[in-house]
Amino acid sequence: MLAVYASAIDPDDPLRGLVVGERPEPEVPPGWTTVTVRAAALNHHDLWSLRGVGLSADRLPMILGCDAAGIDEDGNEVVVHAVLTDDAWRGDETLDPTRSLLSERYPGTLAQQVAVPRRNIVPKPEQLSFEHAACLPTAWLTAYRMLFTRGAVSPGMTVLVQGAGGGVATALIVLGSAAGVRVWVTSRSEHKRDQALALGAEQAFASGARLPERVDAVMETVGKATWAHSVRSLKPGGTLVVSGATSGDTPPAELTRVFFLQLSVVGSTMGTRDELQRLIRFCLERDIRPAIHATMALADARDGFASMLEGEQVGKIVFEP
Ligand SMILES: NC(=O)c1ccc[n+]([C@@H]2O[C@H](COP(=O)([O-])OP(=O)(O)OC[C@H]3O[C@@H](n4cnc5c(N)ncnc54)[C@H](OP(=O)(O)O)[C@@H]3O)[C@@H](O)[C@H]2O)c1
Repeated sequence: MLAVYASAIDPDDPLRGLVVGERPEPEVPPGWTTVTVRAAALNHHDLWSLRGVGLSADRLPMILGCDAAGIDEDGNEVVVHAVLTDDAWRGDETLDPTRSLLSERYPGTLAQQVAVPRRNIVPKPEQLSFEHAACLPTAWLTAYRMLFTRGAVSPGMTVLVQGAGGGVATALIVLGSAAGVRVWVTSRSEHKRDQALALGAEQAFASGARLPERVDAVMETVGKATWAHSVRSLKPGGTLVVSGATSGDTPPAELTRVFFLQLSVVGSTMGTRDELQRLIRFCLERDIRPAIHATMALADARDGFASMLEGEQVGKIVFEP
């Protein structure tokens, strides 16, 4: 089958190990099922994998991709939940210390077929296209958990989103504004700031700009480049939710501000299957859909990876096998 896979790890030149080519159809262990992929979305995770973060050379070749929507063996339209847990694990899947994401230990979704545990598929409502549904399980689910579970953000609060153009960032803008949150964003690019306003952000600022007032919460995925600004932008008692560190994970900690202003720094990763189902319902209820930067054939996936590496995208890049 056609698949997009990592054949080599290169921390400095991630596209060097990227191959679009033939791989065997997936093995299906007991309790697992095969999903025929109709759409699969690209995440920064796939670039991290090619750089060797979360994927070691002894697991190569590895099919990339965490996100997919497709058809299961019984002909049902489904969305794949990418968090794989131990069979014995009960409760919040993101807290299983042995958890992995598709494409870390088991082949991922950027292929014509993917095998997943049966418990990892949830129904796709027909109002949601495969293209939109494929954007939900990683970036959108992460944004949902950051805002509503880990950040405990409520309507009327002001929330700053750092780095407006990304998959998680655009999800934070759309979900937050649909929930009655006043969403402010930063971006390095004027074009992305304009796009963020069109998606529902109330105000958009250049990266690092002084804000008109301090905010209740900040959503961080950029890391080193924006961390100090995030800490300085918070009201006393405010919350900084972090789920990524695209620009580096060793910023100055700003500890004095953290303790003196009694800030909360909260980590967040992916989301549970229940949260994925609630996210799908929320999208239907509020009639919101993921912002899609581009949809392309799986065979052209290299162009999508290159675009993300350059940081060109506003929203998600989706592949159709
Ligand atoms: N913990 C989890 O479960 C989880 C889940 C999903 C994603 N993540 C992580 O979250 C991060 C974002 O993921 P994504 O898929 O949304 O990636 P993406 O679509 O590639 O977005 C990257 C964003 O980072 C910003 N950015 C990158 N470098 C920057 C820099 N030097 N200075 C300022 N901004 C910079 C860009 O903002 P502008 O160009 O607009 O300034 C862009 O919005 C990644 O590191 C990913 O691994 C973690």
